[in-house]
Amino acid sequence: LSRSPPGDFMRPAVRTRGKSSSKTNGVGVQVEDTRICVVMVGLPARGKSLIAQKVVRYLGWLSISAKCFNVGSYRRTNTPQPNASFFDTSNKEGERLRRAAAEAAVTDMVKWFKSPGNLIAILDATNSTKDRRRWIKDRCDSEGIETLFVESKCDEEDLIMSNIIEVKTTSPDYSGQDPEAAAKDFRERIRMYERVYETLDEDEADLTYCKIINVGEQVIINRIQDYLQSRVVYYLMNLHIKPRSIWISRHGESMFNVTGQIGGDANLSPRGQRYAEELPRLVRNSAGDTPLTVWTSTLKRTAQTAHHLPYEKLSWKALDELDSGVCDGLTYAEIEQRYPSDFAARDADKYNYRYLGGESYRDVVIRLEPIIMELERSENILIVTHQAVLRCIYAYFMGSSQEQSPWMEVPLHTLIRLTPRAYKTEEERMYADVPAVSTWRGKGSKAAHADTPESSRRGSPAMLGQVKEGL
Ligand code: ADP
Ligand code: F6P
Ligand code: PEP
Repeated sequence: LSRSPPGDFMRPAVRTRGKSSSKTNGVGVQVEDTRICVVMVGLPARGKSLIAQKVVRYLGWLSISAKCFNVGSYRRTNTPQPNASFFDTSNKEGERLRRAAAEAAVTDMVKWFKSPGNLIAILDATNSTKDRRRWIKDRCDSEGIETLFVESKCDEEDLIMSNIIEVKTTSPDYSGQDPEAAAKDFRERIRMYERVYETLDEDEADLTYCKIINVGEQVIINRIQDYLQSRVVYYLMNLHIKPRSIWISRHGESMFNVTGQIGGDANLSPRGQRYAEELPRLVRNSAGDTPLTVWTSTLKRTAQTAHHLPYEKLSWKALDELDSGVCDGLTYAEIEQRYPSDFAARDADKYNYRYLGGESYRDVVIRLEPIIMELERSENILIVTHQAVLRCIYAYFMGSSQEQSPWMEVPLHTLIRLTPRAYKTEEERMYADVPAVSTWRGKGSKAAHADTPESSRRGSPAMLGQVKEGL
């Protein structure tokens, strides 16, 4: 999996074909990007939509253009609130409308693939029969689109019941209806599907697939063909649904923060030390007795911040701050003076701007990919890291855009708790009562490096923990 250098993940594998075509490269052969349709398979309430959304968010974070086509949403345009009998395969009208919805979704997907750069579509539906899967495969084959079938098979009754209660009773299919009646109807809907459901098996040995059994207890993979497919499968293999949170904090105020210098490997300031002493209490107030593992970077200021935390600790080079190259150790004002065009170029496209001899936000995302993979595998983790790195990790969980994430305000002496829920991530911010400078710089400015307005913060609801949600 790690054969390609990390940067290559940004570039799709390129396949060349012998046929001549209007879309030819310099040597007269057609050049095509790998395009993959990830076809979800499984009974209702098996986590298909959740998996589909996570894959889209993960790929988007890596700048791989991906889109989910949810057949249920297409079906809702003709049948907004069906009851279970609609899904009975002997219901001819129901069958016709469901087929029309699937065809509309596939047609839109094929259209979407015509735009250059669009690489991975997820067809989110039950696709629960061999016939339906063959039809999708043939359709994709004829368009030169690869198919990767992803089945979620789960027979844990309690889990399915809680899935129904957690996400299905609030589905638009049941809006305005009594949740108990909705749950009953949804169980009945599942029964309709069970009558015809065919799991992926040896009859479909020619298909490329990944079959996830009981939330990853067992994973069967078949005929995975290329790098991009293997990356998607590897991601799927690392997902779990155990409830957990991820806490993130920047290090305490450093001596460089006080002087307004960027980069470096400075010690904490006296106020930063106070934050390090406060942090165990802040974490305990939020996490209680939950066992945590602490991840830091290899820089002194994060280790010093984590020093008093009574948990297992691990330091990662990948969590080191964005490398500011020739600008390391300078203030923003000095950078503007010495490298004015670079200073302006960074403001114009902060995500892509790479410091001379250093990194861009895009580079940081690529080196953080193994961290994200490890975070997906893990349970409760507390990460003590740096401004730019924290913004990139946050962007993954909250689905923030590349335009916004490098400008996100993330004050020192603040603990952020992220809790993944079905379809979204909840965020809560907790502020320590220890003043610190602000290192935030708005577009065109040089950053004041003055203290944050502590007094206004102290009285605000944010002090008590502010909850907001991402994707
Ligand atoms: P589907 O799209 O299959 O109807 P959803 O994605 O709407 O199902 O269901 C979401 C629920 O499924 C969430 O509560 C989530 O915790 C749970 N879930 C996620 N992954 C799985 C899985 N592999 N098996 C069973 N349930 C899962
Ligand atoms: O100022 C603190 C700091 O972590 C610097 O070391 C780093 O270069 C900077 O923040 C990153 O923030 P920005 O991308 O907004 O300059
Ligand atoms: C749906 O209609 O909600 C749906 C998922 O359709 P299908 O089972 O036909 O994929």
